[in-house]
Formats: sequence, C-alpha cells, structure tokens
Amino acid sequence: MKKIRVGIVGCGAIGSEIASACAGRLQAGIELEALYDIDTEKSRTLSRLLNRDIAVDSLDCLVDRSDLVVEAASSSVSQEVVKKAIEKSKDVMVMSVGGLIESEWLITEAEKKNIRLYFPSGAICGIDGLKGARLSKIYSVTLTTKKPLKGLDGAPYLKEKGIDMRSIKGERVLFEGNALEAVKGFPKNINVASLLSLAGLGARNTVVRIVTSPAYTKNIHEIEITGDFGRIAVRTENVPSENNPKTSKLAILSAIATLKGMSESVRMGT
Ligand SMILES: NC(=O)c1ccc[n+]([C@@H]2O[C@H](COP(=O)([O-])OP(=O)(O)OC[C@H]3O[C@@H](n4cnc5c(N)ncnc54)[C@H](O)[C@@H]3O)[C@@H](O)[C@H]2O)c1
Repeated sequence: MKKIRVGIVGCGAIGSEIASACAGRLQAGIELEALYDIDTEKSRTLSRLLNRDIAVDSLDCLVDRSDLVVEAASSSVSQEVVKKAIEKSKDVMVMSVGGLIESEWLITEAEKKNIRLYFPSGAICGIDGLKGARLSKIYSVTLTTKKPLKGLDGAPYLKEKGIDMRSIKGERVLFEGNALEAVKGFPKNINVASLLSLAGLGARNTVVRIVTSPAYTKNIHEIEITGDFGRIAVRTENVPSENNPKTSKLAILSAIATLKGMSESVRMGT
C-alpha cells in the first residue's frame, strides 16, 4: 500500500491542524512529507511539535517531495502553488480559493493534465446542491456573510473606504457587489465567495453582501440559489478558529474530511 505523500504550504491555523491530523488519525493512508511557510520559524516549530524533520526551505522543494500539495497560506500565493503543482504533475488542494477567482483556465489546465484539484467546502454548506443545479439553468447565487468586527480586521476595502471599525455600533452592511470585487476588497475573509463562483455562475454574476456588528460572535454564511430546479437557502453559523478569528472551525474540519476520504481510499485499496 502506497501512502499519499502530503506537503503543506502555510503553517498557520489551518495548516497546523491539517498537519496534526495527517501525522495522527489520517496516517493509515497519508504520509506527512513536507511543511513550508514563508515564515520559516513557523514550519520549523510545527515540524518539531510533530516530532518530525520535514520543514523545507522552498515551495519548489515541497512540491517535488509531495504527491498532494495542500495550500493553506494566502490568496496571494495560491495561484502560484497550483501552477507549480500542475507543472510538476502533482495533485493539489486549495484553501485560499480567493486567489483563484476568475482562474477557470487553470482548472481546465489541470484537467488536461489529469491533475486532481480539491476544493474543500470550507465554511459553507450547499456546494453539493449548487453542483447539481448547475446542470440546469441557475438564475441567481447570493451570499450574505456576517462576521464579527475582528473577523474583518485589516481588509483593504475598509482602508480604501476609510471605514473605522471602532465607530460601528450596530449591524452594518459594509459591502454589496459581485464576488470579484468582494475578494479584492476582503482577500482574507471571503474565500467562500470564490468557491461559490467557481461552482456556480462565475465571479461577476455571484452577488455578495458583507455585514458586521459588534454583537456578532460567529462567522455566518447565508446562501440563496435560485434556478430551474427551485430554490436553495442555507445558513451556516461558524465558530471562529481559536488561532485565527478570520477562519472558521468548519473550514479546517472540511479540509481534514477531504483528506480523510483520500486516506480511506488508500487504506481500502480503491
Ligand atoms: N476555503 C475556505 O473556506 C477558507 C476558510 C478559511 C480560510 N481560508 C484561507 O486559507 C488560508 C489559510 O488560513 P489560516 O487561517 O491558516 O491563516 P493563517 O494566517 O493562520 O496562516 C497562514 C500561514 O501561511 C503563511 N504564509 C503566508 N504567505 C505565504 C507564502 N507566500 N508562502 C508560504 N507560506 C505563507 C503565513 O506565514 C501563515 O503561517 C488563508 O488564505 C485563508 O484566507 C479558506
């Protein structure tokens, strides 16, 4: 039985938990092979914590050593990670889906080379329904994301519009527009908009609303999809990760669940 050699790019909230799962409960079918972080101290510390010597100094080295590259770093690098994986014929799982907005060509490129691209469902539910709906006519896809103030901290859109988060006293709609504009304005906060775009109507036709309030404690995603099939309305109330309030716990769990499926396939020889 040949285990899947996994390399993880980004050793923050998501990468660390995925690495622990790979080194623990998923080890039947997965070999944690390499860790890379732009902040080398992070990959080295994580490597030590897991009693391994697997921190590497470059993305190239990580891709070379892996069968599956897991990107859990930043939307500024996810496209480069996918390109390198395709170049070297490695499968790749992407968390920073925002970096792939309007990059459908890259997905076609991967398909041509038989590279498997995995996009865990992240912090939302409903992607399965959207995939089905896409086989017929979809009229609209709307995402309303409600995040606590600190879950949106540092977003370029807030700076550009001069929005002082400390001045917000009640519920406030910060942004309304399409997914392309949303991902540009909130690159660290709204990967789910990109995920919905890829699965549905594309970035220009996916409507996004971002709302905040000092009273919010959860990252809430409400999705409405209408089409020939009928209507889907789903709401996910996410507890933020202890290590990164911008990231929801469910996003981490969905990545681990995707890997669990692969590990089980290896174990069962399917
Ligand atoms: N798909 C989803 O539903 C979903 C949900 C939450 C977060 N995310 C995205 O997943 C990514 C990771 O999230 P997180 O909570 O672990 O973030 P984090 O900030 O806790 O960790 C990110 C890590 O990546 C490293 N990093 C940044 N740029 C890098 C680069 N160019 N090369 C290598 N390492 C780099 C950082 O040093 C950090 O250690 C983010 O882009 C986030 O937006 C996706």
